[in-house]
Amino acid sequence: MGFLEDMQETLDRGVSSARGAVSGVAVEQLGFVKAFARMCQEGWLQGWHEANGGNLSYRMTDTDVAASRAFFYDTPGSWVSMGAQIECLAGAHFLVTRAGGHFRTVQAEPGRGCGIVEVDAAGAAWRVVWGLKDGGLPTSELSSHLMAHAMRMAATDGAARVVYHAHMPNLAALTLVVPAESRTITRLLWKVTTECVMAVPTGVGVLDTLVPGSAELARATSDLMKEHAAVLWAQHGLVTTGATLDEAFGLAHSLEKAAGIYLAARAANGGAEPQGLLSDETLQAIIEGCHVPTTKA
Ligand code: 13P
Ligand code: ZN
Repeated sequence: MGFLEDMQETLDRGVSSARGAVSGVAVEQLGFVKAFARMCQEGWLQGWHEANGGNLSYRMTDTDVAASRAFFYDTPGSWVSMGAQIECLAGAHFLVTRAGGHFRTVQAEPGRGCGIVEVDAAGAAWRVVWGLKDGGLPTSELSSHLMAHAMRMAATDGAARVVYHAHMPNLAALTLVVPAESRTITRLLWKVTTECVMAVPTGVGVLDTLVPGSAELARATSDLMKEHAAVLWAQHGLVTTGATLDEAFGLAHSLEKAAGIYLAARAANGGAEPQGLLSDETLQAIIEGCHVPTTKA
């Protein structure tokens, strides 16, 4: 977009350009936005975000909100019902990727590829207050993200701030050859390397095929997130959560890598189960010896 169109967009949204000049660092330049955009780029480079595949949300801190507020639109978007009241999200602000947006382009133009969504005082509706230029909407998986945030906030005493959804090839392939069942897939991935159970101690919840963007998918994902920081959507992709962007990305990376090793070993073994998977006893010894805070093995 050229300078004149940018200016028009700014005027359309009702933001005084003079205000930006006296209010400090533009939102695009704030640390949390740069880190968010960098993670989108890193996910793209991993090959996890074809076209508009995947989405990311970050629950902003009070400091993030204070640093951004001067740049919020004078005329925010309309309130959109969340279809449920999620009290713990009341008044929260989230940086989220754009519906239909490409991770490949977020870093080049964060004000278009992502935006800030504010939740109302009742925790029942949201509206766009910054970014998502030209009338963009937050990701079609926003319900899944918001419900996952609420569940993981409860599970982590408020520490969880990030929900990340990516389309990774090995995990998707795994769900084509292994039953979509949480315990089966968790134990299989834990047995691939001695590190996996340490990297992903809460294991992975697994959901059979559901309609993308649906309320059913959002509900089922949040149910599994009571126990798991990661949930795998069969024939689709993965959702991970964490206190930081790095934590959510690291969980995703660890699971995808384990799935890749498993599939490569299985292919090298003529399609049969690899013989070298860790035994139940070895897995248990690692959990005990390394004090892995897992609830089940
Ligand atoms: P969005 O472009 O709406 O974020 O959808 C991408 C996706 O991965 C849906 O599951
Ligand atoms: Zn998806």
